This record gives sequence, structure tokens and C-alpha cells, in this order.
Amino acid sequence: MLRVKWLKGTDDLSDAYNVRFQVFVKEQNVPIQLEMDDTDKIAQHIVVYRNNKPIGTGRIFVQDGKYYLGRIAVLREYREQHVGTLVVKSLLKEAFDKGADEVHIHAQIQVQDFYKKVGFVPYGKPFYEAGIEHISMAAYRPDFKITDTAPSSET
Ligand SMILES: CC(C)(COP(=O)(O)OP(=O)(O)OC[C@H]1O[C@@H](n2cnc3c(N)ncnc32)[C@H](O)[C@@H]1OP(=O)(O)O)[C@@H](O)C(=O)NCCC(=O)NCCS
Repeated sequence: MLRVKWLKGTDDLSDAYNVRFQVFVKEQNVPIQLEMDDTDKIAQHIVVYRNNKPIGTGRIFVQDGKYYLGRIAVLREYREQHVGTLVVKSLLKEAFDKGADEVHIHAQIQVQDFYKKVGFVPYGKPFYEAGIEHISMAAYRPDFKITDTAPSSET
């Protein structure tokens, strides 16, 4: 059975770190000092458990007034069972409930199709982070119209 838990940055993050360590540090060779950062303290985290074992995680935070998702990870043996979708959709709902019109992510290039399936669209040029090629992507609140914030045109 799946269970979801929300954590503040000041809570014990060891279940989230456990998943992130397996996925990013062991599987993707990201240096641990890059994997754990100061953003963790200001972020809100989600952990998905199967039979009380942490198997998926992700975080959401605000930077320069913009909402960002990040550190989305599912243990290899639990992938392709829509756990990642549950993580991302839960984080998006949280951001939209808090009033975000748009939510951004620095997505690893090789998983951009996963993010497209949950509503993200790519923008800008690819760039490198922690030695891995990334692309910026954004998801928009379902009822948000770009024109909501566009300056009125003068005739
Ligand atoms: C990316 C990741 C979180 C996806 O988690 P997951 O639980 O396997 O994803 P889901 O099962 O919810 O997949 C949802 C859909 O996206 C597709 N998908 C999943 N991973 C994909 C990938 N790497 N490339 C393309 N499509 C992918 C699935 O096939 C599924 O398609 P469907 O709806 O047609 O069946 C997981 O593969 C992972 O942890 N990868 C390593 C860490 C990583 O790269 N994180 C992203 C950092 S930006």
C-alpha cells in the first residue's frame, strides 16, 4: 500500500535522503556534497512509502518569487508504477494551492518526456548541473492564462 508523508525542511529528512542517496549518489554518481544543499532547509518535501519503506521523494521551494520542483526520485525497482507521477502531481497541487501560477523544474534531459506527461513544457537552452545535462521546464496552473499577467495593449 502506498502512503504519502509531507516534511518541512526542519524535520528529520532521513527518509527523503535515503531515496535520494540511492538514486542520485549511488546510481547517478552525483557528489553527496552537491546532492544535499541549503535549499533542503527551506523546501517542503514529500516522501512516498510502500509498506513503510521510503521509495520516492521530491521537494518544492520558492526562489526569487518562483516555485521550483526538484530532487524527484524513485528507487529503481519501483519505477514505471506511477510513483514518480504521484510525487510530481502532489508537489504541483501543493504549489497551485499556495497560489503559484507556474512551477519550474531543472529537468535532466533524459527524463523530459516523463515531465511532459505530467504537464511540463520545456523552454530555453540545455545546460549542465552536477555534470548532467538539464533543460528548464514549466507547468502552468490549469486555469491560468498567459494573458492574466500580460500588460493591456494600447491601440
Ligand atoms: C524520472 C523518475 C522519477 C520517474 O519515476 P517513475 O515512477 O518511473 O515514473 P512513472 O511511472 O510515474 O512514469 C509516468 C510516465 O512517464 C514515463 N516515463 C518514466 N520515466 C521516463 C523516462 N526516463 N523517459 C521517458 N518516459 C518516462 C512512464 O513510462 C509513464 O508513461 P505512461 O503514463 O505512458 O505509462 C524515475 O525514473 C527516477 O527516479 N529516475 C532517476 C532520477 C531522475 O532522473 N530524476 C529526475 C531528476 S530531474
